[in-house]
Amino acid sequence: MKTALTGIKPTGTPHIGNYLGAIKPALELSKSCETRYFIADYHALNTCKDAEELRSMTLEIAAAWLACGLDPEKSLIYRQSSIPQTFELATILMAFTPKGLMNRAHAYKAMLQSNHEANRDPDDGVNMGLFTYPILMAADILLFDPDLVPVGSDQFQHVEMAVDIAQSFNYVYQTEGLKLPKALAHEGAETVVGLDGRKMSKSYGNVIPLFAGSKQLRKTIMKIVTNSQGIEEPKNPDECNIFALYKNFATEEQIEALKVRYLAGGMGWGHAKQELFERMDEVLTPFRERYNELMANQDYIHQILREGSEKAIPLAEKKIKELRRIIGID
Ligand code: ADP
Ligand code: TRP
Repeated sequence: MKTALTGIKPTGTPHIGNYLGAIKPALELSKSCETRYFIADYHALNTCKDAEELRSMTLEIAAAWLACGLDPEKSLIYRQSSIPQTFELATILMAFTPKGLMNRAHAYKAMLQSNHEANRDPDDGVNMGLFTYPILMAADILLFDPDLVPVGSDQFQHVEMAVDIAQSFNYVYQTEGLKLPKALAHEGAETVVGLDGRKMSKSYGNVIPLFAGSKQLRKTIMKIVTNSQGIEEPKNPDECNIFALYKNFATEEQIEALKVRYLAGGMGWGHAKQELFERMDEVLTPFRERYNELMANQDYIHQILREGSEKAIPLAEKKIKELRRIIGID
């Protein structure tokens, strides 16, 4: 059985885009692979310097994945910060990472670009955590020898960098000490559109929160922007944000039936939104209930994370021991 590993950045309350684009496809993999998931809390430190916020985001994101179906009996779930070997491996990998490789990382380049546009010093606001982000991520991955790393397309470059670094290590010592992983695009995951038709994203403020209560969910759905077509006019389902979302929550028959109503005319946007709300509420209610239960029992979440790291640490220790022997620090 292949192993898959992915990191989850604890960044605020998850939305429907995160669920459909990342959580659902990554969890789907646990049916065919041995899966390992971890909360990348030291990655979050680069941008979040509020202890209370980091603490609560970590718990929220763990609860979110558990509520959406992560089964800790079948998959490993742990916090990055609980695995000290990650940071030792990051130090090892530094010595095999050309600075030029980090200069090419998208996230760093985007910062340089925005500083340039704003006439600021090129490195303004760039901390070394951001600059070396791909090295820590390479350590997260290479420590556990996964075959596959399921990620969104924005993270492909980072996985490729992990492969580059591993190759350079292996070449120097003429070993296969580091296994070369493959990035795996989240299968079937399309970009989910937000309330205003752009990509659903926290940074655009156009999200539908994953665990909103029924009332808030309905209110948010009613805010989806539509065109000015009247009730009687036939409507094109393929150019409609409501329909695009509906497809993710309804059965084939339900999708077909709504399509017919769109094309026939006589259905206003309010009705379409109500249909969407009912489908989403049905699918999301069990997740929401489980999430609220978990958040009311945080000791349990801590316990799951602790048990996960107790299983992960022996694997990491074994790997570091092997690598120390290869490099002559044993
Ligand atoms: P945001 O854009 O809201 O800040 P993140 O960057 O934290 O979201 O994304 C976390 C994960 O969710 C990533 O794997 C990303 O690919 C996925 N994701 C986020 N928004 C969407 C979306 N609108 N459609 C599909 N996947 C998404
Ligand atoms: N960088 C990833 C993100 O921003 C999170 C992450 C950290 C990760 N370490 C990883 C993903 C290792 C896959 C493998 O979403």
